[in-house]
Amino acid sequence: MRIRVLGSSAGGGFPQWNCNCANCDGLRHGRIKARARTQSSIAVTANGLDWLLVNASPDILTQIRDTPDLQPARAVRDSGIAAVLLMDAQIDHVTGLIMLRERGSKLPLLATPEVLSDISSGFPITGILSHYCGVATTELPSDGRTITVDGLPGIEVQTVAIASKPPPYSPFRGNPRAGDNLGLVIQNPANGARVFYAPGLGAVTPELLTLMASCSVLLVDGTFWTEDEMITQGLSKKKAAEMGHLPQSGPGGMIEQLGKLPRSIRKILIHINNTNPMLIEDSAERAELTRHGIEVAHDGMDIVF
Ligand code: MLT
Ligand code: MN
Ligand code: ZN
Repeated sequence: MRIRVLGSSAGGGFPQWNCNCANCDGLRHGRIKARARTQSSIAVTANGLDWLLVNASPDILTQIRDTPDLQPARAVRDSGIAAVLLMDAQIDHVTGLIMLRERGSKLPLLATPEVLSDISSGFPITGILSHYCGVATTELPSDGRTITVDGLPGIEVQTVAIASKPPPYSPFRGNPRAGDNLGLVIQNPANGARVFYAPGLGAVTPELLTLMASCSVLLVDGTFWTEDEMITQGLSKKKAAEMGHLPQSGPGGMIEQLGKLPRSIRKILIHINNTNPMLIEDSAERAELTRHGIEVAHDGMDIVF
C-alpha cells in the first residue's frame, strides 16, 4: 500500500500569496534552504491505480498535474481518484471538491455528519456541486470503527474523533463536536500495517498515544513550532490552541508527545504553516527534530507500508 503526500502545507500554502514573513519572503527570493509546499492532502492506493483522496485541497489541480500516477487514462475521461474522504470541513481540506465538478458521475464523498452539515450550510459546497456532478455521500463514524470504501478494496480506515476545532465559518467553532475533526488509521489488511494521519491535532490524550503506539508510521500536525508564532511575527492575534493545533516545541508539545513513543515508529510532521521555522532545512529547529528522529513531510513524499 502507498500513501502519496500531495500537499504538506497548512492553509495558505508556502509561500503564501500575500505573506512576507521571514520564511515566505526568504523562499521567494532564494535566501533560505526550503521547498515550496501546497495545501494539505494525501492520496492512498492499494492497487496503484485507484486512489482514496484524503481531503480536497484548494491546490488539487496542481497536485494532480504533479502526480501522473493519479491519471491511469483508462477512458477518454478518467481519474485515479475513486472517492474523497474529508477529515474536517476546513477551507484547506474541502475547497478542492469544486475543482472535481467535471466528473461524469456523482463524486463518492465520505465524511462525518458534522462535516457534511458544515459543507452543506456555512460553506455550501455540496449544494453547489449538485448543479454539476453531484456527490454520493457516505456518513463516517467517529467512534473508532474501521470502515472499507466501495470501489477501493484493500484499504481499511479506522476513524477516531480527535480534539481540534471546526472551521471559523462553522456555528460550532467555539463548541466543537466529536465528528468535527477525525484522525485516521489507514490499515493495510494484507500485512496489518497501520499509519496514523492527523493533520489537525489539538491535543494528544493517553488514549490517542495508545492508538499511535499501535501504528508503524505517524503523520501528525506540524502546523506551528510555538503556541504564539503568528502573534510574535505580527501576522495574527490567534494562538495555536485557539486554532486547534498543538505546537511542536515547549512543555507538552508534539516533540514531547512523540518522545513517549518507541523510536521504531516513523514520525512525520505534516500540515506545516508557512511561519514554522522547521521549514528551513538547515535551521536549529530542524536539527532538533532530526535528533528526536522526527521527519518533516514534503509534497511528493511516498510512504509504502
Ligand atoms: C487550519 O487548519 O487551522 C487551517 O489551515 C486554517 C485555514 O485554512 O485558514
Ligand atoms: Mn488546515
Ligand atoms: Zn509566510
